[in-house]
Amino acid sequence: MGVLASGRGSNLQALIDAGQKSDFPAEVELVLSDKRNSYALERASIAGIRHSHLAPKEEGFYLKMGDEIENCEIDLICCAGFMRILPPEFVSRFPGKIINIHPSLLPSFPGLHAQKKALDAGVTVTGCTVHYVDEGVDTGPIILQAAVPVLPHDDEETLSARILGYEHRIYPLAVRLIAEGSVHCVDGVVLYSGNAHQEGSGFISPVSE
Ligand code: GRF
Repeated sequence: MGVLASGRGSNLQALIDAGQKSDFPAEVELVLSDKRNSYALERASIAGIRHSHLAPKEEGFYLKMGDEIENCEIDLICCAGFMRILPPEFVSRFPGKIINIHPSLLPSFPGLHAQKKALDAGVTVTGCTVHYVDEGVDTGPIILQAAVPVLPHDDEETLSARILGYEHRIYPLAVRLIAEGSVHCVDGVVLYSGNAHQEGSGFISPVSE
């Protein structure tokens, strides 16, 4: 995997940790950031993973990013809190190979501040989504989602923290499914093989007796 990250990098860490387990079928080989001081780069350094900062204001930013990824023979590009919209020329250079994690149940609440949007909308369930990246903002084919209840006294911070815990679970899981060949995206449709679905699973929030 190559990971693109702009900030604290907790999802990156979840992918690094998963990749260090002997039975996990993928490993983080490269971390790229558009922010020189991002903690994501520090995490990569601590883990001994190749990493670079690329300056977004410099010409050819996405070209350089793509070249680094190709040089490292990366199979899967994971956006993990990468705060930029990938341009069409970058997305089309790596068809079906870029995934992202978003802190809502897409297609609800795409874009920034997804947790606040969920609170403002008064939903009782929100969550997180891993999806393939297309040219839109958080619009690509959905791979995995986790539903997370909104609790009565939640604010943006408490809800974000609860969702984040699930992000750290489903991102490595999505990578595992892709690396094992249990998930494919064909013409914008995600196809599963194996035991991805469980009859009768689900939950109701708020819970009533
Ligand atoms: C996560 O909530 C992710 O879903 C969103 O940005 C946040 C990044 O957090 N895209 P971290 O940098 O992985 O800790």
